[in-house]
Amino acid sequence: MAYNFISAQEAAEMIKNGDTIGMSGFTAPGAPKLISEEIARKAEREHAEGRPFKINVFTGASTSDHLDGVLARANAINMRAPYQNLPDLRKRINAHDVHYFDRHLSEMAQECRYGFYGKFDYAIIEAADITPEGDIILGCGVGNVATYAHMADKIFIELNAKLPHSLLGMHDIYTPADPPYRKEIAIFKPSDRIGSPVLKVDPAKVVGIVRTDSYDCVKPFTEPDELSKKIGSNVVRFLIEEYHRGGIPKEFLPLQSGVGNVANAVLYDLGESTVLPKFQMYTEVIQDAVFELLKKGKCTFASTCSMTFSDKVEEELFANIDYFHDKIVMRPAEISNNPEVIRRLGVIAMNTALEADIFGAVNSTHVLGTKMMNGIGGSGDFTRNAYISIFSCPSTTKGGMISNIVPMVAHADHSEHSVDILVTDQGIADLRHLDPLQRAYEIINNCAHPDYRPLLLDYLKLGKGGQTPHSLQAAFAFHVAFNETGDMRNADFSKFC
Ligand code: COA
Repeated sequence: MAYNFISAQEAAEMIKNGDTIGMSGFTAPGAPKLISEEIARKAEREHAEGRPFKINVFTGASTSDHLDGVLARANAINMRAPYQNLPDLRKRINAHDVHYFDRHLSEMAQECRYGFYGKFDYAIIEAADITPEGDIILGCGVGNVATYAHMADKIFIELNAKLPHSLLGMHDIYTPADPPYRKEIAIFKPSDRIGSPVLKVDPAKVVGIVRTDSYDCVKPFTEPDELSKKIGSNVVRFLIEEYHRGGIPKEFLPLQSGVGNVANAVLYDLGESTVLPKFQMYTEVIQDAVFELLKKGKCTFASTCSMTFSDKVEEELFANIDYFHDKIVMRPAEISNNPEVIRRLGVIAMNTALEADIFGAVNSTHVLGTKMMNGIGGSGDFTRNAYISIFSCPSTTKGGMISNIVPMVAHADHSEHSVDILVTDQGIADLRHLDPLQRAYEIINNCAHPDYRPLLLDYLKLGKGGQTPHSLQAAFAFHVAFNETGDMRNADFSKFC
């Protein structure tokens, strides 16, 4: 199949103000790297000439500075979904320069196919290679590319010379039929395959191929700090106790792990544990820590949407790809995060909270209730459907001036109905089988920082009955105290008595 080679500038020139573009990938891996930079330059030129130029950007999840970063700085994004994590884009979102809708990652592709977001003008797809039949061997992240390629009028391919042809076979591309024709998603263990190793596209839609040559630019993780280590070892302690108690079957269950230093600390600790058996992962992202666990044989298989490895690890992976070939599968986000599969497999979900309240609700997205941080990502997909849902966070942040355990979360992403276990550096709160008041004591005594325990107990005394004894007047006293004085410890509940 002969597709034309074009330059990234030529591709960007075809894109018009108001176009909707679906981007391949999930986190930095798999996301386009060059055409997006040229679109940003075009936007800057258009703005300098006094003409409007913004596009609608749909992705798998977060991307990289090559995409969200440059486009945000050029103020070139109108609509953006479903997840992001870059400071420049965050600023645009909180200033309403970008209309951001934060969706559960498992739902994005189907909502596009249902027509909720209108038509797609282009899909930009990163490829490791193109087969003689014109099919695409994807890179290290999948996301919603199959749906975007299907829906888009036209397709650009970014052919990345850094990505080896031998990635062929590590993807499992499957798009479920839409209701009322959907059937069961036949994954019964993390390694089951149900789709195609390549992305099939309509050759007539392919406008051109742009050559690129770049690793995925994922920063290496720093060694977990003392705080992350404490939280990590508490999560692992919970898993060990639960396993010994028989709450987790002897074969163990697949793990999902969020991103960040705490997640890495948990995984490193799991690798060190001699009491827990080998395990598998059914997750949306695997990071450097999982690479090490796969090397060691402690993790025997990982189903993921993306291999979010640092450049050094990516290089090592490509050099030893034969070893990893049958140990990793990359799936579209609607399958990696699929509620049906997560529930069936009994996934143990481990995610991070910004803050949690004393009754067990979790805020993952909004700093002090108003400012978007990143987005809900896959945390809702996993939390709501997991066998056990664990949230962790430090007990305080900003040098103790913010308590991450608050009377009432200032924004609720995960309700107390979905949160089973809360873990901080202070300890573990097991919320299963507890009523709201029991949960409050469990969380205050085990997870809150000692500086905040008396204040939280004072708050509890204000409740005037009801099963969940909130005081609606005082519920946000911590947040108000921080906004007014810079320290939540100044919350004064005496005025509400
Ligand atoms: N109130 C105000 N600010 C808070 C806060 C709180 N309760 N808790 C943390 N912060 C601040 C931190 O001080 C830090 O600020 P800085 O950037 O100025 O240093 C920032 O928020 C990030 O905190 P940090 O502890 O470094 O967060 P993290 O890297 O562990 O990420 C989440 C935590 C919740 C933001 C992140 O996990 C996330 O986006 N989750 C939602 C998506 C998700 O869970 N996906 C699931 C699977 S990948």
